[in-house]
Amino acid sequence: NRQFDKTALNRRTVDEITGGRRMRRNRRADWTRRLVRENSLSTNDLIWPVFLIPGKNKSEDIAAMPGVQRVTPDIAARQAEEAAKLGIPAIATFPNIAPELRDETGSNALAADNLINQTTRLIKERVPDIGVITDVALDPFTSHGHDGILRDGIVVNDETVVQLAEAAVLQAEAGADIIAPSDMMDGRIGAIRDALDTNGFSDVGIMSYATKFASGFYGPYREAIGTQDLLKGDKRSYYIDPANSDEAVRDAALDIEEGADMLMVKPGLPYLDIVWRLKESFGMPTFAYQVSGEYAMIKAAAQNGWLDGERAMLESLIAFKRAGCDGILTYFAPEAAKLLSQS
Ligand code: PBG
Repeated sequence: NRQFDKTALNRRTVDEITGGRRMRRNRRADWTRRLVRENSLSTNDLIWPVFLIPGKNKSEDIAAMPGVQRVTPDIAARQAEEAAKLGIPAIATFPNIAPELRDETGSNALAADNLINQTTRLIKERVPDIGVITDVALDPFTSHGHDGILRDGIVVNDETVVQLAEAAVLQAEAGADIIAPSDMMDGRIGAIRDALDTNGFSDVGIMSYATKFASGFYGPYREAIGTQDLLKGDKRSYYIDPANSDEAVRDAALDIEEGADMLMVKPGLPYLDIVWRLKESFGMPTFAYQVSGEYAMIKAAAQNGWLDGERAMLESLIAFKRAGCDGILTYFAPEAAKLLSQS
C-alpha cells in the first residue's frame, strides 16, 4: 500500500509551472471562444445524398438509416427545392434500380432515361440553381452488386471504364453538373474527362472518389440501394486497403493528373488523416463522405439515449472542417442546415 508523496506538489505553484501561460483564458466565456474559433461550419459546406426509387409521390424508410428515405423523382425534386431554400449548394443522387432492370453488365446505366437521369432532368427543370452531383458506378445496375463488369469472378477494369465514360456522358446530357465516379477503376477519371470534353460537356466537373476504402461502414447504403443480398464477395480488389495511406495519396495524385476537379475521401471520420494528407499535398478542393454506417452509428446511439445526437452530429461535421475538408457529403445535411440557419 503505497503512500502518495505530495512533496512534489509543494515544489512549484501552477504559475511557476506555466510561467503564467494559461490556455484556459481564451476558453473562459462564450464570446472568447467564438473569437478564437479556428473553423466554422456553414450550410455552404453540405452536400445532401438522396436515394431514389421509381414511381411517383412515394417514399420508403430505410431501416438502418433512421430519418433517411428512398424517394421518387418528384419528391427528390421537392427535396432539392428544400435544400436550395436551406442554402445547401448541391445534392447527390443514388438510385435503387428495379430488380428486373439489373443485369450482369449493368446495362441500365446506359439508358438515357434511367432513374438517375430522369431525376436530374426533373430537378434541373424545377430547381435550376442547385448543383446536381451524380454517382457513376455500376453497382446499382448489376445483378451481382459490383461496381464493374464481372467476368470469371474478376471485375474487369478497361471494359468497365468504357461503360462508365458513356454513362457519365448520359448523366451530363441529363443536366448533371458534377460527375462523381465511385468505382475505383484505374484510368476512369481520364476516360470520363475525355468523353465529356469530346461530347460537348467541358463545363461538367469531376469529383473523384479518389480515395475510396474497402470499408465495413457502407452496410446501410447497400440496404438503401438494394444490393446487400446481391453482392458476391467483397470489393477489396478495387477499393483501397484501410491500412494504407501512401497508396491513397498516390491514387489521388493520378486522379488529379487525369483531370479531377475535386477530390473526395470515403468513408469520412475514420479517414481524417487521409483528408489532411490530401489537402496538405495537393491543395485541391477536398471533400469527405460521411457514409451510411457513420450516420447509422450516431443515429442509433442517439435513439438509445446513449449520446446527444445533435451535438455528436455537429461535432463530427466540424471535425471534417478542421481536418481540411471544403465540404461534406452527409445524410445529416438537411438536419444540420436547419440547425445552422437557427443559430
Ligand atoms: C459504390 C458506392 C458505395 C457507396 C456509394 N456508392 C459503396 C459500396 O456500396 O460499396 C457508399 C455510400 C454510403 O455508405 O453512404 N459505388
